[in-house]
Amino acid sequence: MSKKFYKLESKNLNAFYGSFHALKNINMAMEEKAVTAFIGPSGCGKSTFLRTLNRMNDYIDGFRVEGDILLDGRDIYGRDVRVDELRKEVGMVFQKPNPFPKTIFENVVYGLRIQGIKDKRVLAETAENSLRQTALWEEVKDKLDQSALALSGGQQQRLCIARALAISPSVILMDEPTSALDPISTAKIEELIYELKQAYTIIIVTHNMQQAGRVSDYTAFFYIGELVEYAKTKTLFTSPKHERTQNYITGRFG
Ligand SMILES: Nc1ncnc2c1ncn2[C@@H]1O[C@H](COP(=O)(O)OP(=O)(O)OP(=O)(O)O)[C@@H](O)[C@H]1O
Ligand SMILES: [Mg+2]
Repeated sequence: MSKKFYKLESKNLNAFYGSFHALKNINMAMEEKAVTAFIGPSGCGKSTFLRTLNRMNDYIDGFRVEGDILLDGRDIYGRDVRVDELRKEVGMVFQKPNPFPKTIFENVVYGLRIQGIKDKRVLAETAENSLRQTALWEEVKDKLDQSALALSGGQQQRLCIARALAISPSVILMDEPTSALDPISTAKIEELIYELKQAYTIIIVTHNMQQAGRVSDYTAFFYIGELVEYAKTKTLFTSPKHERTQNYITGRFG
């Protein structure tokens, strides 16, 4: 019998900041071309876990992981792994839109420039495609040479998603991508996530239970470094197995 394929798998993953044990034996397999949401109270380890998936925590002094994270079956903490290659495959979008103080165009093609791509046509095509994918093209096509910092917060976040898409990742990590946005921009990003999952595996951290319900196929509930419950989103929200999950999703703490 063939084993089911998962895009990402966490196996006996433990993470530490110095002597602080931030993630405790996380075992979890994430499906390809689906949206998986991480929920849980502040400080439970959602961002830490998300960031282990593309080794973003490598920069933090005293941080270390034990166990494995498999991407397409391959351990991303393995010795032969090049972190720059890994980050091309696993892109990231942050809580606050963080465009560079450059033009809209240069923001989108930033990753390509870093790779040394100079072909004007390739750059222009990639910029247009990525901006179309994030439904931003019509809004910015006449001002590609203007500063990205002049865009609205919601537009900036879609630009940051376009920047992530431009280097053709297969996984996109999003850490509370709408928490700094108004409801209309939030709705646009949620629609976008829905579209993007046809082609990408998306992992999103959110504090917003309604958002998890709207955008995700699977939801994982974390509590003080532990994965308490992981199920199809509908199941987790309608019939959670654990009392802690129940209490959290009904707003009794958090
Ligand atoms: N750079 C760091 N150094 C030391 N401890 C850290 C660091 N970053 C996070 N922690 C600790 O690890 C734990 C998990 O933090 P993390 O940021 O992953 O939580 P979170 O679930 O994303 O919370 P929030 O919802 O507030 O963003 C917390 O106890 C936090 O204080
Ligand atoms: Mg966080």
